[in-house]
Amino acid sequence: MKRISLISLAMAMTLSMQAKDILVNTPNTSLLLKADEGQPLHVSYYGERIDRVDQVYNAYSLWEHAYPAFGAGCQNVPALSVKHADGNMSTELVYQSDTKVEEPNATLYTITMKDKLYDFWVDVCYRAYTNSDVIETWSVIRNEEKKPVTLLKYASGYMPFRQGDAWVSHQHGSWGAESYIYEEPLQLGAFEVHDVNGTRNAMTNRPNIMISLDGKPRENEGRVIGAVLCWSGPYRITIDTRGQKEHHLIAGISEAHSEYKLKRGETFTTPELAFAYSDEGMGGVSRSYHRWARLNNKVHNGTALRKILLNSWEGVYLNVSQEGMEKMMDGIKELGGELFVMDDGWFGDKYQRSIDNCALGDWVTDTRKLPEGIPALEKAAAERGLKWGIWIEPEMTNTKSELYEKHPDWIVCHPNRTPITGRGGTQLILDMSNPEVQDFVFAVVDNIMQETPNTYYIKWDANFEIQNFGSKYLSGDNQSHLYVDYHLGLRKTLERIRVKYPDLVIQCCSSGGGRVNYGLMPYFDEFWVSDNTDAQQRLFIQWGTSMFFPACAMAQHVSASPNHQTGRVIPLKFRFDVAMTGRLGLEMRPSDLSERELEYAKQAIATYKEIRPIIQQGNQYRILSPYDKTGYASELYITDDKSDAVFFAYKFEHYVDQFRPRFHFAGLDPDATYKLTEICRNGRTDHWEGHAFTGKFLMQQGIEIALNGQFASKVIRLEKQ
Ligand code: GLA
Repeated sequence: MKRISLISLAMAMTLSMQAKDILVNTPNTSLLLKADEGQPLHVSYYGERIDRVDQVYNAYSLWEHAYPAFGAGCQNVPALSVKHADGNMSTELVYQSDTKVEEPNATLYTITMKDKLYDFWVDVCYRAYTNSDVIETWSVIRNEEKKPVTLLKYASGYMPFRQGDAWVSHQHGSWGAESYIYEEPLQLGAFEVHDVNGTRNAMTNRPNIMISLDGKPRENEGRVIGAVLCWSGPYRITIDTRGQKEHHLIAGISEAHSEYKLKRGETFTTPELAFAYSDEGMGGVSRSYHRWARLNNKVHNGTALRKILLNSWEGVYLNVSQEGMEKMMDGIKELGGELFVMDDGWFGDKYQRSIDNCALGDWVTDTRKLPEGIPALEKAAAERGLKWGIWIEPEMTNTKSELYEKHPDWIVCHPNRTPITGRGGTQLILDMSNPEVQDFVFAVVDNIMQETPNTYYIKWDANFEIQNFGSKYLSGDNQSHLYVDYHLGLRKTLERIRVKYPDLVIQCCSSGGGRVNYGLMPYFDEFWVSDNTDAQQRLFIQWGTSMFFPACAMAQHVSASPNHQTGRVIPLKFRFDVAMTGRLGLEMRPSDLSERELEYAKQAIATYKEIRPIIQQGNQYRILSPYDKTGYASELYITDDKSDAVFFAYKFEHYVDQFRPRFHFAGLDPDATYKLTEICRNGRTDHWEGHAFTGKFLMQQGIEIALNGQFASKVIRLEKQ
């Protein structure tokens, strides 16, 4: 045994001496690849930035295939597994050539690999950003064999990392409780997150994880690697640990029920897998993803400031009317809001959408509810100086709909089966692999824009998962393409919409946060974090969501009290303070607020407008985690130049003789002096009000903050002097 490992070590050394180094750098991180003609591509380092390759030879080298393929020398879980045209199940990819292309905000490295025997090619790609510490990897698989090959597994990428006290942080949730954080040490065996939902891949497990390399995950210290899969369909992220040296991470589209055939000359491009590394803890990795998303259109129009809106759902549910909508418009206008959105309930001719069991697909105004049509509402909003927005669920239909009566073959379901239905006992999914359906979905948006060209915002919902696997459009041979082709079809449709309507603001909603993924966010400006608007539970949901997504993308609404999901009674200030850490909005009838509450809401909205750029475009530091069970939470947002910050402190549990933390700040310039002012104040003045402290003091010593009773909260503005 010992002899063999010495020999392989010697071989590795020889190869490493001959191999060409490809150093993939972001401002603060590096990935080192080794390429050598006729050999597999190797990955030998990922971590803090190095500028000379010899800086890591002896310190920390890995030696693993960068894109392991099954069947010829690959000892790890493969990223790629192929059945070649002649039935051969093995693939042996070797290096052919590489290119490096400078892009506006990134450098793209393409390493071309080919099977040693077969005319089967794979480009392994890495895009390293210059404006954020993120490296994306994906592969472009090309079949030049004479006959079709079958892709049995086609992950986006692979990354090894050394064993130690490594922990994984992942997210799990369900309707109304999305994105809760779970942490566990990585042990021998396998760790996996995956999704099988079909349409909304973030409802339970989320396609993103973090690995803390230096023990239990910490917010602002320790080395952390993040992995985010930019895909909206079923996926699989596996960390395989065998032996005592490395962990092996493989992430990509789930191969389950998804064999994919490639004819001669066809290519398959896998979705991006975005890695981030930081030695500033999980917060460092989060900030890299936030920056990457905002600056590189990974969230659509990521640098634009988002408007304050009122959405009608929790105010009136399906009972929309001209009068009711106008009343809500008056309410949000009075409070200083900027946009009004009419949710579900406005459509249906033959079938009236008075309960949620019909009419999806029949995108015509229900003139019994809205006799003057949508243009009248658009006009009413404009007269009040408000922007106008509307809800749709364009990928869906109901058995009770004119659309389904006309096109029963358009739904996702095998032709031999009777479909199982979802919401309302009638909901079905349209088959996005079918180009006719893609045209229809495009036209849903296009028609709205034709009829009401000043529509500013669309809430795009998706409330059912694939329970009827099968497509009437795909051939018998290609049924296993459904999961992939559904999402490629969806992407194609969204691309088409974006080409025609680049400035339309579109919210990604899926029974709340069911579709919070970076496969879709390049086409959506924001997402609905959760159907649960209870401020206490939102602290947990939003905390988890912010691990990977920037504040500008997180739709956070103040709703009524008692809360409609939990029945909890929470003061308006606390509800606002929780909603303000993202894109602020309202989800209620303002006419239900008391005079005092209306005054408070007005002041809070005016204040939010002032701090909006700091929150939506700033850097987030999560400090006291609600998950730490102290009953407190705190976080801070700060501008790039560290001159202006907003700090939020919450107390959401209350006991006699409860632990009283000193509130530490994070992310400040230690040498600068900051003046502290409480904003959105609704109580007593603290002793630090108006005083200035050094960043170092605020971070090391912290301050006392009087938070009395349950649901006490404070928002503090820090301005550099
Ligand atoms: C979903 C969304 C809600 C609302 C309803 C309307 O549940 O998550 O916000 O739009 O649909 O039916």
